[in-house]
Amino acid sequence: MGFPVVRGRRLRQTAGLRRMVAETTLDPGDFIYPLFIRSGQGRKEEVASMPGVYRLSPDLAVEEAAEAHANGVPAVILFGIPDYKDDVGSSGWQEDGPVQVAVAALKRALPELVVLTDVCLCDYTDHGHCGVVERNRVLNDPTLPLLANIALSHARAGADGVAPSDMMDGRVAAIRQTLDREGFTDTLIMSYAAKYASAMYGPFREAAQSAPSFGDRRSYQMDPPNVREALREVEQDLAEGADLVMVKPALAYLDVIRQVRERFFVPVVAYNVSGEYSMVKAAARFGWLDERRVVLEVLLAMKRAGADLIITYHAMEAAKWLREGCPSKLRL
Ligand code: PBG
Ligand code: ZN
Repeated sequence: MGFPVVRGRRLRQTAGLRRMVAETTLDPGDFIYPLFIRSGQGRKEEVASMPGVYRLSPDLAVEEAAEAHANGVPAVILFGIPDYKDDVGSSGWQEDGPVQVAVAALKRALPELVVLTDVCLCDYTDHGHCGVVERNRVLNDPTLPLLANIALSHARAGADGVAPSDMMDGRVAAIRQTLDREGFTDTLIMSYAAKYASAMYGPFREAAQSAPSFGDRRSYQMDPPNVREALREVEQDLAEGADLVMVKPALAYLDVIRQVRERFFVPVVAYNVSGEYSMVKAAARFGWLDERRVVLEVLLAMKRAGADLIITYHAMEAAKWLREGCPSKLRL
């Protein structure tokens, strides 16, 4: 049996039919909105390589988050831009650091918003590496208590969850232990479990001023050819107490997202990283791509690959587009 009895096009005739048989959906509720936080008040500086993305002072971060939340985005993740950096990243666990202040302000103004924080040293170290450096090597074990300091300071400020992005071995266990010991047994951990040493983080490093001053991150972030290794990383982070696991970047690693989804029964998060954002923005600026359609297609692909949640700089715009287009206006 086949054509002419079988006709695939029957189910594609109208927007209504297509919507009925859609196997995957995209919703503002899938998004986690990243925000870069600096100190001060009323400060808003655009990141040159990421049009539409800003370094915000805590007060303006609250405004931005409120607008995203009003458009159906349930969560934000905060990245810190400190006033000073040193060799161990001590500005990362200051009680009155930009992230700590922003977390408190966000939870006060928007108690229902889920506030997550990125936990890493690279934003706060003068050498820009994600761990303690000795003789040009990034050390694993001495880094763990410092990461735990940062995570604890975020939990104390009221964060719902912390997201370690450093790729040191044992960081989830170290953070979980410290949080539990201090009474934060319900603060969740979203681990950057399978984080690859990717060239796609370039614009982020400009935004966070966190590019390593020497060498690269290949001795701790994962090597792009490997997927079995990603599954081991996920397995290990779950054993240490991670509540959600992330695959990063997303677009070039959709196969990794799919495999993690099939093997583990926890929420899987895809990080639609800065380079992926900037590529689309740049092409759209030149008029080479229809930005709205490309963004929604790319985000949908991450869902189809198996992601439950997507960290994306497009969150605000995409949420608005989805709300405009849903559902009656979808009819062609
Ligand atoms: C910090 C961190 C990075 C990103 C998230 N957390 C940069 C890096 O590892 O160099 C990248 C995010 C992006 O590119 O959007 N460890
Ligand atoms: Zn880092």
